[in-house]
Amino acid sequence: MRTFGFLSLLVPFVGCLLAQAGSSEKFVFERINVNDTALLIIDMQVGLIPLVRDYRPDEFKNNLLAHAAIGTVFNLPTILSSTSETGPNGPLVPEIVAMHSNAPYIKRQGEINAWDNADFRAAVRATGKNQLVLAGITTDVCAAFLALSLREEGYTVFVNAQASGAASEVIAEDAKARMRDAGVFVVSPYVVVSDLIRTWANDAFNVQTVGWDFAYWVLRGFMTEAHAAAIQNGTLIPGELDEN
Ligand SMILES: *[C@@H]1O[C@H](CO)[C@@H](O)[C@H](O)[C@H]1NC(C)=O
Ligand SMILES: *[C@@H]1O[C@H](CO)[C@@H](O)[C@H](O)[C@H]1NC(C)=O
Repeated sequence: MRTFGFLSLLVPFVGCLLAQAGSSEKFVFERINVNDTALLIIDMQVGLIPLVRDYRPDEFKNNLLAHAAIGTVFNLPTILSSTSETGPNGPLVPEIVAMHSNAPYIKRQGEINAWDNADFRAAVRATGKNQLVLAGITTDVCAAFLALSLREEGYTVFVNAQASGAASEVIAEDAKARMRDAGVFVVSPYVVVSDLIRTWANDAFNVQTVGWDFAYWVLRGFMTEAHAAAIQNGTLIPGELDEN
């Protein structure tokens, strides 16, 4: 009995030491690498879009197209998937399908979690990539279920939160917290693009990235347009350079 009493005193002490060892682990910044990444476009179906209440419809459509276009800009292996298209969910947004006419398009027969579909699993594995950038409607079901399954499989998962919509902001926040608990990185499309391009001096991708800005990141598009106008035909107005 004495021994047990002693051990039970020791257990929290050892636990404390382990916790300290854990907290001294070096932080690893897992970056999105253009060579290791595939893009997943999940259930962006015209019948599901009206369920999205945490973004305005025009803003959300822009965000969906921006997500899909990241695959085109960076030439990423891209997979489209939908479920129960012939029911109320309807088909994928046609502009997205047109953008990726050569991509695998897995039409699931009702499976809610895309990972439950063998063709989808095979398509993801066939990319040979270990980093997956995904967005889906809805954030709490289509995006979160797949993201959690992919984490279980050992993938690094980045969820583009702005192209994933939910029935309310509270639902979206809970879903993002659940995903983060599983080690999913919840990011904006600008994070994805910036880590894929890495440097504005990246000749391989800069032209397409500027085009993406014009189309989808409207504020940065205007900034670029203003800069071009200034270079082409700019004149300093009196006082512009003079801070006094
Ligand atoms: C991706 O691969 C290309 C070609 O091998 C290489 O030049 C480039 O540096 C790689 N990019 C990153 C971010 O590792
Ligand atoms: C440049 O700006 C001036 C003054 O507004 C204008 O008269 C001229 O047509 C512009 N030139 C070009 C090429 O846009």
